[in-house]
Amino acid sequence: MLQHIAIIMDGNGRWAQARGMSRSQGHEAGTRQIAVVAKAAIELGVKILTLYAFSTENWKRPSAEVNFLMGLISKYSYEQLGEMQKNGIRLNCMGRIEQLPALVRKSVHKIEEATANNSQLILNIALNYGGRAEICDAVNAILQDPDRPEQITETNFRKYLYVPNLPDPELLIRTGGELRISNFLLWQLSYSEIYVSEKYWPEFGDAELRQAVTEFQQRNRRYGGL
Ligand code: IPE
Ligand code: IPE
Ligand code: MG
Repeated sequence: MLQHIAIIMDGNGRWAQARGMSRSQGHEAGTRQIAVVAKAAIELGVKILTLYAFSTENWKRPSAEVNFLMGLISKYSYEQLGEMQKNGIRLNCMGRIEQLPALVRKSVHKIEEATANNSQLILNIALNYGGRAEICDAVNAILQDPDRPEQITETNFRKYLYVPNLPDPELLIRTGGELRISNFLLWQLSYSEIYVSEKYWPEFGDAELRQAVTEFQQRNRRYGGL
């Protein structure tokens, strides 16, 4: 079964550079790709798509690039609202959202509210997201919960993650060829199948997603058994 796909959308900068374009143009092209891949995911029967858009480490980039990305996120969420309503996509942001600029927080909250009743696809956008930060935030949420369980189990711990009780992604895709997780979904990826594409994110579309899913379906998932 393939219910949840997570994607590390990497390679915008290299895609642009290879074409003599600016990194910003690469990010714009990459942002447009989100709608394409979301639509393909719906056609494939996927229910949850979690996309890594900005990591807790990406603040290290030059401030001009960080500011450009923040503006892009806000602009894009408004621009895509019509398309999301049409396709039944529910937007949900995950990460340390409270640390984002007010403009970004406001726009994503608006779109989250506007799409809250859509049910074709849950589109989780990981923004100012770090896997270690999420685990620490979950532990702090437990410490502050007056109704916390006496014992933490793998099952009740999930309730404290950014998206409570999110099923694990069966498939993790990373575009841009790097063989690392870069602090994405450290808890949830524990048994996910990994697929790395050499294509840069702005060139990863319908056909590439289908190819990843086809390969996933041929994997033998043993979970430590035989
Ligand atoms: C991914 O593309 C987008 C973000 C991390 C925001 P990059 O900007 O990392 O592109 P490359 O890896 O430099 O090509
Ligand atoms: C991972 O890409 C983060 C996102 C796609 C948002 P990076 O480009 O930041 O990852 P590294 O630096 O190659 O590990
Ligand atoms: Mg990168």
